[in-house]
Amino acid sequence: MCGIIGYMGKEDCIPQLLHALKIVEYRGYDSAGISCLDHGKLITIKTKGKIAKLETLLQHHPYHATIGIGHTRWATHGKPSTRNAHPHTYGHWSIIHNGIIENAHILKQECPEPFSSQTDSEVIAHLLEKNNHLRGIDCFRKVISQLQGTYAIAGLHEGEESMYVAKYKNPLYIAQNNESIMISSDLAVFYGKFYSYYCLEDHEIAMIQENSITFYNQQGKSIAKQSLTLQNVPQTISKGIYPYYMEKEIHEIPYVTQSTWQQFVEDENLLHNIPWQNYTCIHFIACGTAYHAGQMGAIYFEKYAHIPCKSSIASEFLYENTLFFPKTLYILISQSGETADTLSCCEKIKSHQCDTLAIVNVPHSRLSQIATYVLHTLCGPEMSVASTKVYTAQLTLLYLLATHIHIEQSIPIEQVQSILAFTDSITPIPSSFLPKIVSYKKILFVGKGEDYITAKEASLKFKEITYTHCLALPCGELKHGSLALIDADSLVIVICTKPNMIDKINTCMEEIKARNGHIWLVTNENKKKFAPFDAILSYPNWSTPLSAVTSIIPLQLLAYQTAVAKGLNPDQPRNLAKSVTVE
Ligand code: M6R
Repeated sequence: MCGIIGYMGKEDCIPQLLHALKIVEYRGYDSAGISCLDHGKLITIKTKGKIAKLETLLQHHPYHATIGIGHTRWATHGKPSTRNAHPHTYGHWSIIHNGIIENAHILKQECPEPFSSQTDSEVIAHLLEKNNHLRGIDCFRKVISQLQGTYAIAGLHEGEESMYVAKYKNPLYIAQNNESIMISSDLAVFYGKFYSYYCLEDHEIAMIQENSITFYNQQGKSIAKQSLTLQNVPQTISKGIYPYYMEKEIHEIPYVTQSTWQQFVEDENLLHNIPWQNYTCIHFIACGTAYHAGQMGAIYFEKYAHIPCKSSIASEFLYENTLFFPKTLYILISQSGETADTLSCCEKIKSHQCDTLAIVNVPHSRLSQIATYVLHTLCGPEMSVASTKVYTAQLTLLYLLATHIHIEQSIPIEQVQSILAFTDSITPIPSSFLPKIVSYKKILFVGKGEDYITAKEASLKFKEITYTHCLALPCGELKHGSLALIDADSLVIVICTKPNMIDKINTCMEEIKARNGHIWLVTNENKKKFAPFDAILSYPNWSTPLSAVTSIIPLQLLAYQTAVAKGLNPDQPRNLAKSVTVE
């Protein structure tokens, strides 16, 4: 959470910072700001609100600077406001921070001057100023050594053409070309400009000066670091023909399903590098949408691979009295590979000498570095806070693993092609549905088995971007309490993709109708087989056992179109951020 950016080069830094900030804006959009050195003088401009507001503000300030830092914030300590926005500038120092300084309240007692924000981060600027008598890097290192918690930090020092950066647990990357050096929380900023980058490790510090980066370890010794090649570089990150990333990303589902699958066709060792025969149990761990993918993974592995499975929400797993067995493979699923709860689970599992498999979308993310084994969903950057294409790629990958780990059989390429052939079948929800859905006071999503997991994911998506209170339940559970909610103001969205479940689903639909509830049915089965309903939502008719991929699409679109109809920005829902890097 929070995006940090820095630029040092030959060009004006402000357009560079603004462009990069827009790319990392998904990490938080409560406030934004930049600091730069204009002829050696420290200037800070910041505002509550999104980057667009900062951009307008900067048009009134014709600064000329070639070195600067920028920040986009997701509030933890102190509400979204201009004074709580980063950078925090104090005396000769200006800093940006992603993370939480857990001992900020103690450190603040060392700093006599009043604080101008409610943040935990401002104390870093005060401590730097307090130690300003030390040389730049010594001052920075001393302050960093006092911090407890998590951080990616960048600092500028007035009168000095240097930038200092440090990280612990939160990501920080540095890239260099002939023209410039940039720092960023996300590699996506480097696409199209840089061919290699450095991944700053925990406790490392870097000092960036004109054309040079010097790395230091925790003891302050300068160290050599290998640069890494920037792979799979998409040309640009753009919305293309779509008004929002979310719509674009839903339409990319056939492609990402295909590319995620295709990697195993091209290299079957990806499957066989993991010693599946060693494990008698699989435990899936993740958060939010990725947790739903894990729950679906547990269904697939029990059904196709005949291995007992368990699934846990990462933040719960951390505090459970889990019995660890070396014959259990712990599969951690994460789009960002940065989610703090999931990372902590990985560390806890490893401390019990058990194996972990990370399924991640962001290459080189921290989870992919610390897990025993790694597999990637090949979706490219997912920019919308609401996860769509990555969820379906996670399902695809888990299905593929479950169906193929125990059977010595090659990956059927024709299934992939059949999915790709249906790219055009992703069509919008008819607009007549939208005024109706916004009129319901209660919305329930129900299903059985795999369809219940789809109901949970659909409900999460709907509440996340439309701010509507909704609930997901297994069909059979309705009569054990929640049926009391059903009346003429309720909409129940019933998902049924399995023909053998239709009888049970019909019983549930009759019970809802008997209480005057409204029913929208999501199915690809013959509608005549179902009890009365009010409307039907169809989905792409891909002939694949991956019905969980196809049936979530109309539900993602329903959430998306409802949000847009309500005048909301589905890419940046309130109170949320894409990467949740705090526990
Ligand atoms: O990056 P991760 O997959 O670890 O993120 C986990 C959740 O925060 C994420 O899936 C969240 O639930 C989505 N915003 C839902 O659309």
